[in-house]
Amino acid sequence: MYIKRNSFSDLEDLKKEFQEASNDFKHPTRAREPQEAYEEVLKFAKLNNIYSAALKEISTKLDIIDSDFQHMYKHNPIHHIESRIKKFHSLIKKLKLKNLEISAETAKDNITDIAGIRVICNRIEDVYAIENLLLKQEDINLLKRKDYIKNSKENGYRSLHIIITIPVFLTDSIEISPVEIQIRTIGMDMWASLEHDLRYKNKEGTEKFKHELKQCSIDIEHVEKRMQYIHSETFN
Ligand code: GTP
Ligand code: MG
Repeated sequence: MYIKRNSFSDLEDLKKEFQEASNDFKHPTRAREPQEAYEEVLKFAKLNNIYSAALKEISTKLDIIDSDFQHMYKHNPIHHIESRIKKFHSLIKKLKLKNLEISAETAKDNITDIAGIRVICNRIEDVYAIENLLLKQEDINLLKRKDYIKNSKENGYRSLHIIITIPVFLTDSIEISPVEIQIRTIGMDMWASLEHDLRYKNKEGTEKFKHELKQCSIDIEHVEKRMQYIHSETFN
């Protein structure tokens, strides 16, 4: 199952959004004339196309890995995949936060999570199998890796994060595009969704249930390990 959200729909809306962002952001971005703003927005739209293509390529690779795995081992490692392109306003927000100029070029050079894929696996073993199978492919390069499964975050967050690059072949160039891939189990995803909702929708909730959430994360880890054991004893 694929869940895909797209943005960058209407160029006129983007232009307005871009001009507003440039106007209220004094340093280091200056206000743009309408024509200049329009040209910059076109560059953002082009960037968006490239990242959409990169997402398609990675999604196809994951699909192929999943069905071949099923063929070889009679088991699907992937439960489902979600992908998204960072929304324009989130991209602008991140550039501002990093005190960077709001331009397509700075975004391309500095933001590595414009294209994002989340791979939800059935078991912990599958998470690392997917990572290995992706990273051994010749056209994929690893930029950054954070293993929050081996070393979970203080709040209990667990997931494997890799940022990779993949070439996208366009009409007149090859664009090496970064994609952030979060690989996690169904249990880890269940935990992260609740924690995310609490954090964004109810800040007090995160504080109030801080210890409870951490304990849930530990419990989920134990259950996953027990279930992994049952699976290995039965099928390996
Ligand atoms: P950004 O947060 O994207 O600026 O990057 P970072 O360098 O801190 O990267 P990191 O790999 O730590 O996190 C990237 C993404 O992982 C986030 O945007 C979230 O989607 C997810 N993530 C990281 N930490 C948490 C967490 O504590 N809870 C939840 N629910 N998601 C998290
Ligand atoms: Mg991010």
